[in-house]
Amino acid sequence: MDPVRLIIDTDPGVDDAIAILMALASPDVQVMGLTTVGGNVSAARATRNALAILQAAGRSDIPVAKGASQPLRDRYSYSPQFHGPEGLSLSLPEPESVTVAEGAVQFLYDQLTRELGEAVLVALGPLTNVARLLWERPIALEQAKNIVVMGGAVNCPGNVTPAAEFNIHSDPVAAEIVLSSGLPITLVDLAACRQVWIAREQAMALDSKHPQGRLAVDMLQGWFRLEPSRERFEFYDPLALAIALEPAIATVVKVDLDVGLDENELWGATAESGGPGEITLPMTVDRARFFSLLERLLELEGLEIK
Ligand code: RIB
Ligand code: CA
Repeated sequence: MDPVRLIIDTDPGVDDAIAILMALASPDVQVMGLTTVGGNVSAARATRNALAILQAAGRSDIPVAKGASQPLRDRYSYSPQFHGPEGLSLSLPEPESVTVAEGAVQFLYDQLTRELGEAVLVALGPLTNVARLLWERPIALEQAKNIVVMGGAVNCPGNVTPAAEFNIHSDPVAAEIVLSSGLPITLVDLAACRQVWIAREQAMALDSKHPQGRLAVDMLQGWFRLEPSRERFEFYDPLALAIALEPAIATVVKVDLDVGLDENELWGATAESGGPGEITLPMTVDRARFFSLLERLLELEGLEIK
C-alpha cells in the first residue's frame, strides 16, 4: 500500500516532537516536510527545534519551511513552563541543516498541489499558517486528502483559560477562518486528548531500542523531570497524528463550531453552533488501540497501560 504522505505544521514542543517521531518511525508514512509556527515557543525556536529533532532522528533529508512568527491578531504567548525554556525537554545538538528558501505558506501550497489529493496535513500548533494558506492560495487545501488539527476544547474545560485550548487561544482569528471554511477538517480537541495519558511511574519505566523510539522516550521522561509535581502526560499532538494514521481510533460526530473572538473570557473558545456540520470531532478514543499504535511505532518496552 502506498505510504501516507504527511505534512506536519508544528510548534515543537514536547508533544509535537513525540508526534513527529511517531510519523518518522512509521513504515507506512512518508513525511513530505515540516512547516513551523510560533506558539509553544517563538517561530525561530520552533524552526530550530524542528531541524534539531529531524537531525537527531537521522532525517535531515526532510525539508523544513519556516512559518508565522505572530498570529493574525495580537501576539503569541509562549509556554516555556510546560515544554521547558527551549521548548523541548531534551537539549538536542544544534542542527547543521537549514530551512528551505520558501516560507511555510508557499511550501504547503507546493506540496499540496504537487501531490494532488494525496497529501495529509496535520496541524499541531496555532493555525496561522493554515489560515494564511487559505487566504493567499485558496485552492491548495482543497487538494488535501485529509486535514487533522489538534486544538479546541469542545464541551470541556480549556487548558489556557476555562474556555480555551492553547492552539486556538494563540490565534483564534486564524482558527475561525479555518474552522468555518467548510473544508473536511478533523478537530482533535482536549476532550479527546484527555482520554490518552500516561502516569509518571509508567513513563519512567519505558524503554525502546528503536532510534526514534528512544528519542521519544527520552523526550517524555525529560518532560516529567522538568517538574517533580507532574503526575501525568496527556498525548495531545500524538493523538492527532495517530487519528490521521488510523481514523478508527476514535468514534466521531459532525459539528459546526464558533470560535470566541471577543476580547473577553471567551477569547479562543470553541463552542458548538448547531450541526451536523463540516467538522469531524473525535468523541470516544479507543485507548488500547492508541497505545498499541504508539507501542508498535516507537517499539516501546515496558508499556503497562491500564
Ligand atoms: O493544547 C495543546 C496544544 O498546545 C499542543 O499542540 C501543544 O503542543 C501546544 O501547542
Ligand atoms: Ca503543538
